[in-house]
Amino acid sequence: MTADELKQRVQEFDWYHTIDLGQGVVTPGQYDLRPILRHYGIPESLRDKSVLDVGPGHGFFSLEFEKRGASRVATVELPAWSSHDASPLLRKVFEKPGQDNAMTPYLFGAIGLAIEARGSKVERLFHNVYDISPEKIGKWDVVFCASVLLHLTDPLRALYAIQTVTTEQAIICTGIDTTVDPANQARALFLGTATGQAFWIPTITCLEKMVLAAGFSRVERVATFHLKSTDGKFDTPHGTVRGWV
Ligand SMILES: C[S@@+](CC[C@H](N)C(=O)[O-])C[C@H]1O[C@@H](n2cnc3c(N)ncnc32)[C@H](O)[C@@H]1O
Repeated sequence: MTADELKQRVQEFDWYHTIDLGQGVVTPGQYDLRPILRHYGIPESLRDKSVLDVGPGHGFFSLEFEKRGASRVATVELPAWSSHDASPLLRKVFEKPGQDNAMTPYLFGAIGLAIEARGSKVERLFHNVYDISPEKIGKWDVVFCASVLLHLTDPLRALYAIQTVTTEQAIICTGIDTTVDPANQARALFLGTATGQAFWIPTITCLEKMVLAAGFSRVERVATFHLKSTDGKFDTPHGTVRGWV
């Protein structure tokens, strides 16, 4: 692909992530994570590690894992937009004829182009996080899951599944509640509405306890930070923890 062809194809998609595709082409992402990458606790070197990226968005992290030397990287994405957790009301909207097709470019196309443009070997698996298991996808040294749990009605069940496929460490990042004072209470704030796609935001202490409750033997707090969208519309406190098997 020439730079001009790539620029043309980038315009086909709404981009979640800002990604440098090479040849001077950078996607106009809703989130530019490059300046805040340190808050995600990704090991400097992933040499010889297999890494699973659960809920990859448009692939910014997967490409970063590859850059840091991972021997194998795979994403786990939903098989369809309508597989998202949703109330019966929102489900009806998701399941309208043509709706899944309308979301196909956003869910599958943009990351596909990013992988192609970067000449990446990132593999793509399609499962709901609740359903992953060693039988289905094997085991992975490092499992990464960022900004996904807040979109789940049952984040602990997702952590159960993640624990079963992790052999070394899981890096878990999600929206957190920073309004509780003191924040060291293990509480979660419920944000759900009948048409919304955000459900639970735990305090950072709660997130740590959830990771332990999922069966990880030790948990480490990595960071708390603000995840801000490039258009200034969203500013969501986030927290990252590392669970050791
Ligand atoms: C908000 S984006 C986060 C993208 C990226 N991880 C990041 O932190 O920038 C949420 C991602 O999780 C995926 N997702 C949502 N629910 C999921 C589920 N139940 N199982 C697997 N992936 C899911 C979405 O399709 C999307 O790729």
